[in-house]
Amino acid sequence: MPSTPHINPHGAPIAETVLVPGDPLRAKFIAETYLEETVQFNKVRNMLGYTGLYQGQEVSVMGSGMGIPSVSLVTHELIHIFGARRIIRVGSCGSFQPDLAPYEIIVAQGACTDSRFVEHFNTPGTYAPICSWKLLKAISEEADRRGVDIHVGNILSSDVFYNLDDTVNERWARMGVLGVEMESAGMYAVAAEAGAEALGVFTVSDNLVTGEQTTPEEREKAFTTMMELALPLAALS
Ligand code: HPA
Repeated sequence: MPSTPHINPHGAPIAETVLVPGDPLRAKFIAETYLEETVQFNKVRNMLGYTGLYQGQEVSVMGSGMGIPSVSLVTHELIHIFGARRIIRVGSCGSFQPDLAPYEIIVAQGACTDSRFVEHFNTPGTYAPICSWKLLKAISEEADRRGVDIHVGNILSSDVFYNLDDTVNERWARMGVLGVEMESAGMYAVAAEAGAEALGVFTVSDNLVTGEQTTPEEREKAFTTMMELALPLAALS
């Protein structure tokens, strides 16, 4: 088993499907709550990673860290060095749309970005990072089966959390962009270049138009729903 500057599994397995929450402690919680026969495969820089079984299917979960530099290097190493084929981000986002309330679930069909990371792939025009159609279709079907509403569309992956310009959110919202987080565009581009699949799923943590925020109870419930949609994706052929 190889190792990289950021992942050293010491022989522990890494599954073809890896869920990547931003927070490594969230990865630990997911592993402890949802997986069986779990082994830890990473602790480098506290970016905790685990592999276990979900309904008999091998799946891994690893913290991605915050921002495109962190998620893109984790995604790159998981795919290129450890053979992962599907990276599924399970995160939170702020909402740009007044009627998209905290705890609603967003699936990022596309990810706009103000980051220059994607430029290093050197396409001769603006590259449009999109999710895997197969994963999007599967999560949409799973949501239908469970009677869960999901909002599918464009999001923004921003490099800037504290933006000095207070007009930016409205300008993205005008283009129908649903919300903002800080990772998916980089993750989608890395996966695309490698011929792998990626999907970003989010619970809305705060509405940036109305200022509405989730309560801890709502956050917990929304997180559980999101995990019940994301984990079965590991069983896809
Ligand atoms: N901005 C960026 N990322 C986020 C936010 C936000 O408001 N909320 C959750 N992730």
